[in-house]
Amino acid sequence: MDKIVVKGNGPIYGKIPIAGAKNACLTLMPVSILCEDTLKLTNAPRLSDVRMMSGLLSSLGCEVISEDEGKTIYLTTKNITNHTAAYDIVRKMRASILVLGPMLAREGNAIVSLPGGCAIGARPVDLHLKALEALGATFELKDGYIFGKCSGRLKGAEFKFPMVSVGATENALMAATLAEGTSVLSNVAKEPEIIDLAECLIKMGAQISGQGSDTITIIGVDSLNSAEHSVIADRIELGTYMLAPVIAGGEVELLGGTRQIVSAFCQKLEDSGVEIEETKNGLIVRRLVSRIKPLNIVTEPFPGFPTDLQAQIMAALCTASGISVLEERIFENRFMHAPELIRMGAKIDVHGGVAKVTGVDVLKGAPVMATDLRASVSLILAGLAAQGETVLSRVYHLDRGYERVEEKLSSCGALIERVSG
Ligand code: UD1
Repeated sequence: MDKIVVKGNGPIYGKIPIAGAKNACLTLMPVSILCEDTLKLTNAPRLSDVRMMSGLLSSLGCEVISEDEGKTIYLTTKNITNHTAAYDIVRKMRASILVLGPMLAREGNAIVSLPGGCAIGARPVDLHLKALEALGATFELKDGYIFGKCSGRLKGAEFKFPMVSVGATENALMAATLAEGTSVLSNVAKEPEIIDLAECLIKMGAQISGQGSDTITIIGVDSLNSAEHSVIADRIELGTYMLAPVIAGGEVELLGGTRQIVSAFCQKLEDSGVEIEETKNGLIVRRLVSRIKPLNIVTEPFPGFPTDLQAQIMAALCTASGISVLEERIFENRFMHAPELIRMGAKIDVHGGVAKVTGVDVLKGAPVMATDLRASVSLILAGLAAQGETVLSRVYHLDRGYERVEEKLSSCGALIERVSG
């Protein structure tokens, strides 16, 4: 298995292009199930999760053609030839659950493996099922699978989510586009990926309004048609690389980044003494102080501070000039990077969903292990500022969500390489 080796090497300077968003792409691809014509996605990120979603859709009968090294994807689902999303794929990628709503809407029949537990908590799918039940689907859970059915078309309905869920909002939104009548979904997620999904569906002929607010209204249509859609920039990749010069020092321009998609995160960085400048090409980040100031952070649904940047900012706060408090409110058990950062000399106390991080003068390189996607990149970031060598194993977590990390960081002068093993 590959490893990534990072050596702290002082400040970094350069430009990093931001790829299309993994989480947007993973919800745009299943849209293809809703339509017999071709959906063309551009600016797709080249990631193992995207290849996995291609594999899942192919197994259901979708023709998937990749061009431009995977940045352009053509998806055509003339017929659904298989109604089962198998355990082997779903257990590796939770976003597989996003085929459930579209399959029910098109076929009235879907069998999807239960995703099961995952490293960052229990992550149930009850909200997905409740929302689809409101639209007329029925479910039976048997042998580790969700058996979903509906007689005739799904029916438009009003549904208020008991708590905000990105994936459940996406599943319900996709399903409602082909339902009979009007659906009003409230307490929905407002993430930029939801807006991107709605905009793609609208290009295909769906009638949707309210995306980006608490309530989305969908007037069901009989069918959707072909469209071309460019995947939005990855706000989590953007936030991650914004932290590279914060941790290592120096100045980096993030090409394609906008403040609007990471505004809560930008505010926190500025509070800590970091300068962020908007340019016509993206965002320039420079650290003005020798050590950043400590921060208090609470993770929340968008537009709050994203849980997917919590591990990375923790890495930065490990060398802040005081005590920071990070409260994780989205996922339980999402501090698995803390013990690894402690191995690098960080001082972190975790109690339940709260981590207290006491800044230290310097981190020390160490062998560390990736436990999940965002945790793995936080260890690379920490390695940029650590004395000596940090060797990250279980790099497959990283490859799910970051394309060419070592190329992007080494182009700015960081000492980082992938070692095949
Ligand atoms: C998505 C993102 C993930 C991000 C998360 C929160 C994708 C592919 N993944 O995940 O990177 O960290 O949003 O921003 O887009 N919940 C339930 N029942 C459900 C569904 C969710 O209780 O049926 C809970 C979850 O356990 C969690 C919270 O709701 O505590 C939010 O999860 P959700 O927004 O659904 O996250 P995902 O869509 O899985």
